[in-house]
Amino acid sequence: MRIGVLTSGGDCPGLNAVIRSVVHRAVVDHGDEVIGFHDGWRGLLEADYRKLDLDAVAGILARGGTILGSSRVQPAHLRDGVERARGHVADLGLDAIIPIGGEGTLKAANLLAQGGLPIVGVPKTIDNDIASTDVTFGFDTAVGVATEALDRLKTTAESHQRVMVVEVMGRHTGWIALHSGMAAGAHAIVVPERPFDIEELAGIVGERFSAGKRFAIVVVAEGAKPRPGTMEYAEGGTDQYGHERFAGIGNILAVELERRLGKEARPVILGHVQRGGTPTAYDRVLATRFGWHAVEAAHRGEFGMLTALRGTEIEMVPLARAVESLKTVPAERYDEAQTVL
Ligand code: F6P
Repeated sequence: MRIGVLTSGGDCPGLNAVIRSVVHRAVVDHGDEVIGFHDGWRGLLEADYRKLDLDAVAGILARGGTILGSSRVQPAHLRDGVERARGHVADLGLDAIIPIGGEGTLKAANLLAQGGLPIVGVPKTIDNDIASTDVTFGFDTAVGVATEALDRLKTTAESHQRVMVVEVMGRHTGWIALHSGMAAGAHAIVVPERPFDIEELAGIVGERFSAGKRFAIVVVAEGAKPRPGTMEYAEGGTDQYGHERFAGIGNILAVELERRLGKEARPVILGHVQRGGTPTAYDRVLATRFGWHAVEAAHRGEFGMLTALRGTEIEMVPLARAVESLKTVPAERYDEAQTVL
């Protein structure tokens, strides 16, 4: 079998572990040949690739980022490229393509699969918002980074009697905010799924100071928004890939809380530090299992499918179903996290 692998969309700790696992399982156990396309879908559309053998993936298990490079592609560009991709797949004699990516990549993968290409998807994203899988690799690493930052911010916040507003990633969902906020014992967690009321939030933080506490930590997901009509708020529009541009909710909340509480508030935007660096052991294992199962699915001819973690097992689910909706934080999970102060 000849297999092509690519990484697309925002990078994520564990991508290299998937690539390595695909190559090991395919080359060592099946005698396959593997090629890696450069910079995501661009590499497939332009037939820009290199051979991946065991030497090419040596030493990459613990390395963050992706040795293949990644990029975002405009959906319209990809729609126009289905024919071209099909041509390259035929010319290169590929029997399977394994795209590793998040929401946008999986939608593109589904489009190509529906166009007849032999696709087996692997989900990735630090945001953990892919509905068909219990967890995506990268999430555990990101939560670890955010939790460590929150722990560190507590000591400096306390020294200066400040409110720290820590903005974490999470475009549509608040999984990183919820988990890091719970792990670090944050005093308020703000997620996109539950639009906030600034007066309510200021009340929660203010009560803490009134109770004699010397600092407060607020974790906010980048996609969080105020409840309509509760605060002036300007949307940031969308970028060329159709992604929403955020208005900088961490900065906004810090200003609003400082004004209402008369306490110094500092915004801390964790940003891409959550995506960089070495994956945790959990993410390396999950990524390795996804790679292994993607190769097996390709050998069974299960195309148009995606690897997914269900409980402790890896299952294959239809790509078309995986892209139907996002996995948001359920109200019960959010409510559980409210026992704070
Ligand atoms: O989708 C993962 C994610 O990390 C989002 O949480 C974040 O908004 C986005 O990627 C940032 O992407 P970029 O690298 O394009 O700035």
